[in-house]
Amino acid sequence: MDRSLVILGVVTFCVCASAGDTHATSGEEGILQLNTDNFSRALRENRQLLVHFFIPMTADVHKVSEIFQEAAAQLQGSEIKFAVVDAVKEKDLAKELNATEPPFIRLYLSGDKHNPVHCPVPKTSSSILTWLKRRQGSPVDLMTDTVQIDSDLLVLGFFKELNDAYIQVFYEAAVDLPDLTFALTKNEDVVSKYGLVNDDVVVVLKKSRLMQAYRMRPEVSKEELLLFITVFQMDPVTEYSGQTASQILSSPILNHALLFISKTSPDFETIYAAFNRTAAAFRLKILFVLVNVDESRNGRLLEYFRVRDFEAPLIRIVNLTNHPKMQSEPVPDDWDQTPVKQLVGSTLERVAFHPNKTVFVLFYLPYSSESRAVFPLWEELAEAFKDQEDIVIARMDASANDINMSMLRQYPSLCLFPALYSEREDESRRKYMETVRREEEAKKPKQNKLEL
Ligand SMILES: *[C@@H]1O[C@H](CO)[C@@H](O)[C@H](O)[C@H]1NC(C)=O
Ligand SMILES: *[C@@H]1O[C@H](CO)[C@@H](O)[C@H](O)[C@H]1NC(C)=O
Ligand SMILES: *[C@@H]1O[C@H](CO)[C@@H](O)[C@H](O)[C@H]1NC(C)=O
Ligand SMILES: *[C@@H]1O[C@H](CO)[C@@H](O)[C@H](O)[C@H]1NC(C)=O
Ligand SMILES: *[C@@H]1O[C@H](CO)[C@@H](O)[C@H](O)[C@H]1NC(C)=O
Ligand SMILES: *[C@@H]1O[C@H](CO)[C@@H](O)[C@H](O)[C@H]1NC(C)=O
Repeated sequence: MDRSLVILGVVTFCVCASAGDTHATSGEEGILQLNTDNFSRALRENRQLLVHFFIPMTADVHKVSEIFQEAAAQLQGSEIKFAVVDAVKEKDLAKELNATEPPFIRLYLSGDKHNPVHCPVPKTSSSILTWLKRRQGSPVDLMTDTVQIDSDLLVLGFFKELNDAYIQVFYEAAVDLPDLTFALTKNEDVVSKYGLVNDDVVVVLKKSRLMQAYRMRPEVSKEELLLFITVFQMDPVTEYSGQTASQILSSPILNHALLFISKTSPDFETIYAAFNRTAAAFRLKILFVLVNVDESRNGRLLEYFRVRDFEAPLIRIVNLTNHPKMQSEPVPDDWDQTPVKQLVGSTLERVAFHPNKTVFVLFYLPYSSESRAVFPLWEELAEAFKDQEDIVIARMDASANDINMSMLRQYPSLCLFPALYSEREDESRRKYMETVRREEEAKKPKQNKLEL
């Protein structure tokens, strides 16, 4: 699974369910609706074609589509033509253009379909406008002698000799971060009050407070500078919410430390302060995120990271470049002692695919009331069948164990695994036997030792 999918998976909880056909209103002034048949013509006819490949029903498509339309309205009559492609309906076209993955807004220049310029994911329509403007502009536009330092967030480059190479890198970063204000100066007075006079530096200022200074070195790349700016424009710890989700998920820092905690718990202040201190020490390496488990809208996130609210406070370190692994809770000691057997990822297959037993499993989410509502019924059922050896009533926490069964999308979910009886040699049975064999084998050396 690549990162974009992980991202979609996590943010879908804040989906506008009303996404529908966001671009369908073909009355959108001046926006071309393109498909396989007429994309090439549009490309030929427009030297600058800004295309939004949208995937209906995805997390943020509604918002981005609106932003895109606003930008198009504001640039009507300019030489930049706006167009949309439904990447699902026109999936052959999207595939041919390699536009099946983000970024989904791309600028095609001079009819070249192979080398579009990628537009950063816009926060507002002015993100798009600023991006287009900075692309065509030059560092001179950022030059100033009297900087309005009191803007909310300012990225200021101070270069003594107006070093060309540094300015170039600085400007490229400004193009890629259209939501931030950038300024460029060689006036020492502007930075001297921060004690920065003798160096080429880039500083991040928040309400005129110095967040951090970055000393330029000859080998500094745009990526390094982007990393510095995007990290230090954020606080050391960011609370996860609908507003911060995209900032967190688009951060170039891929290692995240997530603190799941109840903000109303008595030790919140102490834990948060410690977390904040640690965060400051790992600024460019790990992104520190606080997840309030009291917030019901974070349910999906808890589910995604397989955290139950009663486990909080708890810290999860995740690496977003990695695949989510098949995960299992440890097998509870008494898992088969209670009437309802408690299954986990590593025992599910072994128990459910037992050839001689019929197994009925309740897959549940511990924090969902719909799930919990089934528990009494399940106890009753287990009680009723407790003397029948060939019937097993079981349950499994679907939030804490990965389940390799694509049919399970909604919880609670009930699955019946009928006994297969010995003759039927099928895939499940083969797997089951293999598991048993492996276990037997694993036991052998141990037994030998005991016998000695
Ligand atoms: C491309 O073709 C589609 C489907 O026929 C049509 O709806 C759309 O308006 C066309 N776009 C242009 C720019 O001709
Ligand atoms: C898409 O990617 C493939 C493989 O990298 C490449 O051969 C092809 O030319 C690309 N298509 C476009 C339109 O750039
Ligand atoms: C977190 O740490 C920063 C400094 O790294 C400090 O400015 C801020 O006040 C701290 N926040 C809290 C809530 O402790
Ligand atoms: C995160 O994963 C990526 C890719 O697997 C790897 O290159 C990187 O070193 C990992 N980071 C850490 C801190 O493990
Ligand atoms: C299932 O029942 C058959 C026939 O009674 C028996 O031979 C087999 O060993 C049983 N399998 C298991 C795993 O108990
Ligand atoms: C999930 O099951 C499918 C089909 O049985 C199998 O191909 C796939 O490898 C399994 N995935 C994992 C992670 O076990």
